[in-house]
This record gives sequence, structure tokens and C-alpha cells, in this order.
Amino acid sequence: MRVSQTRGSNRKVLVLAGDGIGPEIMRQALRVIEFFDRRHIASFAVTEGLVGGAAYDAAGVPLTDDTLAQAFASDAVLFGAVGGAKWDGLPFDLRPERGILRLRKEMDLFANLRPAGVFDALADASSLKPELVAGLDLMIVRELTGGIYFGEPRGVETHADGSRRGVNTEVYTEAEIERVVRVAFDLARKRRGRVSEVDKANVMESGGLWREVAQRVRDTDYRDVELSFMYADNCAMQLVRNPKQFDVIVTSNLFGDILSDCAAMLTGSLGMLPSASLGSPDAAGQRKALYEPVHGSAPDIAGKDVANPLACILSFAMMLRYSFDMAAEADLVEDAVRHALAAGVRTSDIVQPNTARVSTRVMGDTVLRELEKAA
Ligand code: IPM
Ligand code: MG
Repeated sequence: MRVSQTRGSNRKVLVLAGDGIGPEIMRQALRVIEFFDRRHIASFAVTEGLVGGAAYDAAGVPLTDDTLAQAFASDAVLFGAVGGAKWDGLPFDLRPERGILRLRKEMDLFANLRPAGVFDALADASSLKPELVAGLDLMIVRELTGGIYFGEPRGVETHADGSRRGVNTEVYTEAEIERVVRVAFDLARKRRGRVSEVDKANVMESGGLWREVAQRVRDTDYRDVELSFMYADNCAMQLVRNPKQFDVIVTSNLFGDILSDCAAMLTGSLGMLPSASLGSPDAAGQRKALYEPVHGSAPDIAGKDVANPLACILSFAMMLRYSFDMAAEADLVEDAVRHALAAGVRTSDIVQPNTARVSTRVMGDTVLRELEKAA
């Protein structure tokens, strides 16, 4: 555990790098944080802790109560990734993934913002035709603390004849739907004013409830926002057919998980997509918040210095924007990433003809150099 100089900072950040490529991408994000400190732009009190398989190896659980308490005591958490083959055989409750799920649930981070924007320099790196994705700017708002991820009953039961039955349950209360659709409507107001609510109301009663609640909230408080509905299977198809038709998509935990991986790929690579997970504002207007790349721990490339650190760096930019109200500084980081890409450096996941394939560290060096130039 390391505590940086705080210089009276009131910005307490808990860094949980996790497993696989988590530590190596986080190292580059930490350099960006240190840049702000070094240049006296803003200081952050950074504490590092363990999560996932790393926490299991050290403490026997994927998230200790101490680390959870530290997360509660922080203004924001920066999270890397968890999981790996080494821990695949563990009982469900001890698996690395339970670490992030417990953080989300206990901190009540119900609104997961997953923006999919395409940097101009990467329009060619998408698996879709460049004209379909150039200029893309869509926001997926995924419900994060309810639905089938947490619904009861759940588990695998064994019948008298020895046969087994696996159960998970999709459950949503009106209140859970209402608070997350409000986040989507608020975001749409600052964007292009359109929300698509995505569900399977044709086969799931809970999906019908999502539609009713979204319509009621829109008619009561957001008449200036345009609301439309789409089935999740159609949405998956529309995302690869014509992604620019969307502004804000709001959806359940499971559909949001799936659709956001799909949207991420439009941007060229899963290695580009950041996310913010937010709770409700408290009396002082502060929200609990956790920021993490959408990609996973990528055990196959871990430790090789080839992973793309940009999603993690962009997650820190989201922290600046949403937790610390530092839009100019967030722009600074995003511009540095844009310029690094325009300069033609690429980690392997986004490498293209006539660009230079670089390591995780060199991508970090390039972003740092662009930050120094701009500051
Ligand atoms: C994500 C991940 C997680 C999820 C896993 C690691 C538990 O896929 O954040 O999208 O399913 O939510
Ligand atoms: Mg996922």
C-alpha cells in the first residue's frame, strides 16, 4: 500500500488494480494522476488496495471488509480488472468477479455509464466500415445493482433423483428502474436529447414494467427528451447496422453488459472504453463513484507489456469529470489520448497499417508527453 503526498488534497482516490493486465494498465493511469500532482494542477490522495484474485491470494476473499471500508471513505475508486484461470475453480462466492460485484452492490453504484465514442484516428480500426462509426458518440446507461445479477432465488439445487436445476431471477422494482432512467434522461439533456429504453418486453414482464416507468418519468419530468423503446435483440442488430442512430441507451444489468461489449468494439477495441459507476447524490450533492475500463483482465496477454492502457486512462478522465467537476482537466486527458493516437502509436489491439505498434509503457509515455505539451 502506498500513499502519495497529499498537499492537503481533498480528493481521496482508492486505486484497485486487480488481476491480469490490471496492474500494468493502472501503472500508466497512475502516471497521469502523478502528472497533475507534479504540475501543481490538482493533487490526489491515492491509496492502493487489493481486489479480485490478488485479494483472494493475500486474504482469502476477493474483497476484504477493510478495502470496502476504504472505498467508502474515498471520493472515488479507480478499478482495473479482475479474474483469471488461476481462480476458475473457486466456489462462486470466492471468485474474483465477486470482488467488483460486491463493491458495486454495497456502494449502491446503480448507474453505469459506458460511453462509446470513436476517436477520428481509430475510425479505420473498427471492424465496421469507417463511415458507419466515424463521429460515433453514444452513451449506454446500464443498471448495475439489480436484475438477474443479484435477483433471488438463485443457485443450483439438486433434486432427489440427483438431477440438478440452475436458477437466476430477473427482478426490478419501480424505484430501481426510475432512478436509473432519470440518470439517462439527465444525460440526454446535455447531449442530443434522445433516450432509447432497451428490454425484452415482448417476453419478460419486468421489461414491460421498465417501459411503463420510463414513459411515466419522461411524461412527468422530461417532456423535452424524446423516448423510444427497442427490444434488446434488435438493439444488438442496430448497433452493428447503424450505431449512429443512438444517443443514450438505458437498459438492465444483463442487457447492458452484453450491449456495451458490442458498442465497445465499434470504437476499434474493447481496450478503448472507459466507464463510470455512480450512486445517488448525498445531501452535499456528492455521489459514490467507481471508474473502470469496460475490458476484463485479459490473462492471455497479462505481464507482457502489450495491453492497451487507454481505457483505464480515460476512466480517470471520467473521474475528473463526474466526481471532481474538473471538465477542463478531463478534456486535457482526452485530448492527450486523441493526440497520441493521431501521432500514430498503437498498442496491438488497435494497430493499423502505417502505425507504430508500441508497448503499454510507451503508450503511457506518449500520453504523458502530450499532457506535458498541452499543460
Ligand atoms: C463488466 C464485466 C463484469 C460484469 C464481470 C467482470 C463481473 O463483464 O463490467 O462488464 O459482468 O458486470
Ligand atoms: Mg461485461
